[in-house]
Amino acid sequence: MSPNVVGISAHYHDAACCVLRAGRLVAAAQEERFTRRKHDPAIPRRAFRYCLEEAGLTLPQVDCVAYYENPLLKAERQSWMSQRRAGPGLAGPDADRPLRDIRRVLGIEGSIEIVRHHQSHAAGAYFFSGFEDAAILTVDGVGEWETMTFAHGRGAEIRQLAAVNFPHSIGLLYSTITAFLGFEVNDGEYKVMGLAPYGRPRYVDQLWDLVGRHDGPNFELRLEYFGFLDGDTMYAPALAELLGHSPRSPESELTPFAEDLARSLQIVLNELLLAKVRWLHEQTGAEALCLSGGVALNCVANHRIRAEGPFFRVFVQPAASDAGGALGAAALAHVRLTGERPATEPLDHVFLGPAYSVDGIARLLAAGPARYRDFRGDEARLITDVAARLEGGQVIGWFHGRMEFGPRALGGRSILGDPRRDDMRDRINALVKKREAFRPFAPAVLEAVAAEHFDLPGPSPFMLETFPVRSPLALPAITHVDGSARVQTVHPRQNPRFARLLDAFGRRTGCPLLLNTSFNLRGEPIVCTPLDAMLCFIRSDIDTLVLEDFVIERAGLPASWVEWWHETAPDSFQAVSNVVYTFL
Ligand SMILES: [Fe+2]
Repeated sequence: MSPNVVGISAHYHDAACCVLRAGRLVAAAQEERFTRRKHDPAIPRRAFRYCLEEAGLTLPQVDCVAYYENPLLKAERQSWMSQRRAGPGLAGPDADRPLRDIRRVLGIEGSIEIVRHHQSHAAGAYFFSGFEDAAILTVDGVGEWETMTFAHGRGAEIRQLAAVNFPHSIGLLYSTITAFLGFEVNDGEYKVMGLAPYGRPRYVDQLWDLVGRHDGPNFELRLEYFGFLDGDTMYAPALAELLGHSPRSPESELTPFAEDLARSLQIVLNELLLAKVRWLHEQTGAEALCLSGGVALNCVANHRIRAEGPFFRVFVQPAASDAGGALGAAALAHVRLTGERPATEPLDHVFLGPAYSVDGIARLLAAGPARYRDFRGDEARLITDVAARLEGGQVIGWFHGRMEFGPRALGGRSILGDPRRDDMRDRINALVKKREAFRPFAPAVLEAVAAEHFDLPGPSPFMLETFPVRSPLALPAITHVDGSARVQTVHPRQNPRFARLLDAFGRRTGCPLLLNTSFNLRGEPIVCTPLDAMLCFIRSDIDTLVLEDFVIERAGLPASWVEWWHETAPDSFQAVSNVVYTFL
């Protein structure tokens, strides 16, 4: 049997959908990209529609829908929490809702397979790692009751060895400090990681005081410091007393205290995770490790695990947070239906989202008043043009091919710049990102020459690990204060046009690297469609937009679009969208 399986994650954050056709992952996308609502948790109606279309499937051809967590277990934990807060008698959460919504919103009449949350995470890493035998560590905030699980994957089987249950959670420890530092939980954890290298490890002892027993597979929080169970904030007043500091207000100035706390947290996280993978290695004897769950997006800890941990090979699921749960749920449902694991080759790229035809973009542009250059049929000239613009210091919005699945832009929906320029980080922040100045940007580099510029052991195609910079070039725009960078290696097999651009830029400048950041405005999802890219271009100050084979300069935009945007509704995506729609 070669089943068509749809995987779904939803109702928490980062709802996503994917399709496995005969065990092969053919499409995956997050709902936020279509609805333009960041971290959209709704049943992924539009991502589902896209995935079926991409896979060439009709609804009756879907053999099974796999949902990434057990709604009954989740409701049980939520009820337990609300009874702690409000006492018994409160109406419990609606445990039937996810499956009811899947049937109602997506029109599914056939079987729905439930896969537990941490099993979905574990399977999403293991079955796409290419390993036949691997230890699997999953660490997140919480899924149903579990917050950290240890497992061993062999062939088509994943056996769970141990679990840590809510409220004890390494993910929630990290999120609690994220909240204490004035950043948004489930969004600001990356900022804490970026802030850490600026600080000194002055609060390591205090942070260890937040942790109780943590030997072997165990992990306990000392709950008197945490508010997420009973309070209105993630942390309890006792945390401020312990640290001798009050929590930072959001958007306020970042003090040395914040930097020091972030640094201390990173150290405690590194030590905790290293101890856990060592225990897992002792238990499994496996040579390979798979990492998943939101905590596996911590690139600094990933580097420590690879460099100092006991495993020869490490695979991190690129969409390690709950979006990736859709992949694992689908993979496990495939195993249940067939008795066999899905495709055995490792995940080579995450260009699993929609692409848009060059002819369609041509029609879109031809219908509007924007001036543009048309490079159809002459990619070499397009690449030369873009490389020259980058060399001249331009910031480029780069839209090509299928959209990436997961949180990183990897050359499909990217903003690109010259990493050698001192001012490039500030410029991109001023033009488009408007994000905290301390956060470094990441480099994309041709895989063949990556080792000349970074101290890395092999390919790193998903930007999931930091490595020391050892380039003979000065690369201030992508080098963090501690001399590291979050590297993406690019092989022509994965994205031929992006590889050719890196090569062309390298030939012109001697620098086969580009600064690569995601194509979006602050607080918005990464662009999905050509129109999204155009709207982001209009509302930012990016110099040039490359929409597949077309190049649009800022000066080529009609003045009315830009004026209208600056004069009227700078915060309203919908408002500008309507104006541009009338033109396009
Ligand atoms: Fe999770």
